[in-house]
Amino acid sequence: MTTSTFSLLTMIMLNRALYVAADLGIADHLATQPMTVSELACVTHTKPESLQRMLYLLELHGVFKQQEDMHYCLTDFSESMRQNTPNSIRPFLLHDDDTRWNSFGHLGYSVTTGNAAFDMLYGQSYFQHLQQNPQLSARFNDAMMTISCQEDSAIATKLVFEKVVADIGGGKGQLLNKIITNHAITQAILFDLPEVIDQANSVDSICLKIGGSFFDPLPFSADIFVLKRILHDWNNEKALTILKNIRHGMHADSRLYIIEGILDYSEDKKLLAAIDLALLTIFQGQERTKSEFDVLITAAGLEVVSIKNLDSVICAIECKRSESH
Ligand SMILES: C[S@@+](CC[C@H](N)C(=O)[O-])C[C@H]1O[C@@H](n2cnc3c(N)ncnc32)[C@H](O)[C@@H]1O
Repeated sequence: MTTSTFSLLTMIMLNRALYVAADLGIADHLATQPMTVSELACVTHTKPESLQRMLYLLELHGVFKQQEDMHYCLTDFSESMRQNTPNSIRPFLLHDDDTRWNSFGHLGYSVTTGNAAFDMLYGQSYFQHLQQNPQLSARFNDAMMTISCQEDSAIATKLVFEKVVADIGGGKGQLLNKIITNHAITQAILFDLPEVIDQANSVDSICLKIGGSFFDPLPFSADIFVLKRILHDWNNEKALTILKNIRHGMHADSRLYIIEGILDYSEDKKLLAAIDLALLTIFQGQERTKSEFDVLITAAGLEVVSIKNLDSVICAIECKRSESH
């Protein structure tokens, strides 16, 4: 085995060290002042010798820097690990908690059975688990906002939004706020599970917040529906139900933007393929190819109007009600 192969195989520890560093708030401690390992161990309640070993790995990867006086300080990378800073990656790092990590560790189970390792390990679906763990739910929704941050501008500038716009599974409403800022729409509707809607405190005043489930027919209509990073959380049967329920709320001129990666269309195929396996283990979900989307969209009584690349990963599949249905 070459050393570069060996190095690739041990990246898993770098991933976990980043999570632990984020969980311990090391970047926030170092933002107050550079610190020695002993000082950091004291404020993070950790064992100095072990912490030193983890910091050493992270330092080698440019995450932290040890100065000549032995004090650790931040680098550009760890600046982005501070909490409550613009574009902080901390929420994203933190949402990969032990339950998700354990599920990734049972990829073999998911590959063998096609089922979510999470459900097997914890006896409930991930979203049910979030419903019972408000702190984790808040972490998950903040992580989604972290990813969304990068994408929202592209979505708001490259797609057409008018009249009544509904974001289905829109989380805390960050994308809708961006759309409201960029387009003269008349009404925005944020739809998500009731406990997530409760977390959406900062949505614009023209935004109506509706709690419910997309597994029931939608109780409202709209001119534009947005479904971002939703279908990939579900297997084909559930994804079809969601699409049919949205179709229920669509009139002849309504448009639906399905915004997700497309396995054989998006540029960054390696990233999508990795996310695909994470989706399998956590949700029994999947990233889809263009033809897999086509099958679902047609079965739901919809048809594709256009497909646009929004960035290197996500695309917008614009759909309307199929006339032949
Ligand atoms: C992967 S997140 C995507 C959030 C957001 N669209 C984004 O792109 O940032 C999935 C969203 O689906 C919501 N969700 C899960 N089950 C739902 C259900 N049965 N009905 C409505 N929303 C649901 C979650 O609460 C979460 O906000």
